[in-house]
Amino acid sequence: MHFQWYPGHMTKAKRMMQENMKLIDLVIELVDARIPLSSRNPDIDELGKHKARLILLNKADLADDKWNDAWAEYFRSKGFSVVKVNSKKGGGMKSIHGVIQEACREKIERDRKRGILNRPVRAMVVGIPNVGKSTFINSLAGKSCTKTGNKPGVTKGKQWIRLNRQVELLDTPGILWPKFEDQQVGQKLAFIGSIKDDILQTEELGAQLIRFLLDNYPGVLESKYTIEEDNDVYVTLSRIAESRHCLVRGSELDTEKAALLLLDDFRNGKMGRLTLEYPPEV
Ligand code: G4P
Repeated sequence: MHFQWYPGHMTKAKRMMQENMKLIDLVIELVDARIPLSSRNPDIDELGKHKARLILLNKADLADDKWNDAWAEYFRSKGFSVVKVNSKKGGGMKSIHGVIQEACREKIERDRKRGILNRPVRAMVVGIPNVGKSTFINSLAGKSCTKTGNKPGVTKGKQWIRLNRQVELLDTPGILWPKFEDQQVGQKLAFIGSIKDDILQTEELGAQLIRFLLDNYPGVLESKYTIEEDNDVYVTLSRIAESRHCLVRGSELDTEKAALLLLDDFRNGKMGRLTLEYPPEV
């Protein structure tokens, strides 16, 4: 799902988030493991400041695992609980319940002292569009979960998904607005496909991705497209076009088509597991 964000959307999203925050104990925030900082909106730190916090490095299957671990360490050092997950295939899901209990230990302890036993933790999933919120909720909830709330005859309220006796999840995820203002951030969001291609210059974006890959993952383009990498990104792009027979009018190289193919291959993990940004301290 893609969104065009305007100030009005952001105000509405923020208001919804503030309302929902009152109902929950735990914020489950999804980030894209390939760009863990650029795919988050730090405003969530203010909105969720009195809540237990869990960060999921989602799409961990598409990111470099060495960096997944470094990012997990980074977020833990900032006080978050962290789990690496692949919501699409279910990887990492088994440990989630244990980590939720751990993240909410203070709340559970507080309840216990007040004599409240077995009150389930209430959680909400949040993240920018396309980060995998729905996929994650479906994967975690499976088919066996019961929905509560919105019973016939009862005033329309929030729907909760009862995951087990300990956890209930708000069934609609909170949508955070991505931070386009920073050009670098916008570029990385575009690389992973979170910003519509038609508002971008495909060829320029492809060239920027080539620059990143040449600098950080030398050899990747060479082995993927059987080409010799050149430090001039447009030469490399032309070689990809040549190698993949991207042609216009039968003979001219179609570098725009090559750029599209390159971006698709990257987004679908066909170049291997690649991380696009690294934790600040490293
Ligand atoms: P959203 O609710 O946050 O907007 O995201 P959504 O669940 O719709 O997921 C967006 C895309 O990301 C989907 O791909 C989904 O399959 C994919 N995805 C979610 N989690 C993971 C993950 O952990 N690993 C990988 N590799 N992909 C993930 P799509 O292209 O829209 O659909 P499809 O490819 O599943 O057909």
